[in-house]
Amino acid sequence: MSEKPMMHVLPVEAYTSEDWFDREQAAIFSKVWYYAGLAEDITEPGAYISVQAGLNNIFIVMDIEHQLRAFHNICRHRGTQLLRAVGKTPKAITCPYHDWTYDLQGNLIAVPEARTEFPALDKSCLSLKPASVARWRGMLWVHPEPDAVSITDWFGEIEPHLGPHQVDTLIEAPQARTTIEIKANWKIVVENYIDVYHLSHLHSGTLHMYDHAKADFRFIGPHYAFYEPLSASYAKDIDKNAPMPLLDEIPRDRLGAWVPMLFPGIGLAESESSWNTYIIIPLAPDMTRVEMRTKVKNVGIWEFTAQAWRSKSFWHRRISGKYKGDPKTDPMATGDFLEEDLYACEQQQKSLKSPYFEVGATAVSGESPVKAHQQIILDFIQGDEK
Ligand SMILES: [Fe+2]
Repeated sequence: MSEKPMMHVLPVEAYTSEDWFDREQAAIFSKVWYYAGLAEDITEPGAYISVQAGLNNIFIVMDIEHQLRAFHNICRHRGTQLLRAVGKTPKAITCPYHDWTYDLQGNLIAVPEARTEFPALDKSCLSLKPASVARWRGMLWVHPEPDAVSITDWFGEIEPHLGPHQVDTLIEAPQARTTIEIKANWKIVVENYIDVYHLSHLHSGTLHMYDHAKADFRFIGPHYAFYEPLSASYAKDIDKNAPMPLLDEIPRDRLGAWVPMLFPGIGLAESESSWNTYIIIPLAPDMTRVEMRTKVKNVGIWEFTAQAWRSKSFWHRRISGKYKGDPKTDPMATGDFLEEDLYACEQQQKSLKSPYFEVGATAVSGESPVKAHQQIILDFIQGDEK
């Protein structure tokens, strides 16, 4: 056994130690544009959302002129968090601790007992610390620096490799909104998402509606692009087989799945009939939250019901679990590819603790993204520590 067990490019401790977790939070998640929500989460003045982006808690609020603004979610008095997760504030933001109050442009407008308690206070020096906010591809993004690199520069090179989906015109399916917690490091979850080799194996019963042999994938900067067309049997009668109404904006000869992984850990799954987010959020070295949301064609419920009926026989025939068993107790018997992935991630994380853990070999093409992702992480960490 070597001195330091490795997971391809990174040491195994990168997946298990607090130290690595803290370094990633500082060097990666606190330094880049970070996903905060969907554009429709903030549509009226006073509406806000907050997001933990590495070491920074940042909130986005719409001001009275309908402009989006982002601020660090800390009171300028003694640093208390101002706003909780999601909500609407009428005209002002008040810190719960001592009631210091800011307007929606971040100006400090009221300090209780200011005249007696703070006779020399200059309110103009105590505005909220601004961050950057952007709308891009129907999503809201924050960056901790007020003069951040533009988001179109950050995502510029990956953009042509994303799906033709008109995200703003789709509507959310609220019942599909899901949050799961996976007992694995966030990089295990990312690496599972970008591991092309496993698609035909772990998901042999669940993801055969796409032609994995024709998958086209690569890293472009720190972002990962992936596309694969429909499988022949699914494509043959796609108007009948699609589980939901097909999206009109996707050319017929391009129907398939775009499944990019934007850095760091922002997965999208853009298919022939839906557009999905898969946001991978590190909670601890061995714990990750994934938030999923789905948008679909903006048509009435009847069209969805009719399409579900039309496609029922195809899905009934074609979906099966990896193993036979009780789907209530065995994720490999559920016929749900997310359950299969979750199981694989947790089992891999468990094995990392074994002194006998060792990576045996790497698939030249199908697992090349896994190595590439690790190298990107390493470059970020080393770049930050220079
Ligand atoms: Fe998978």
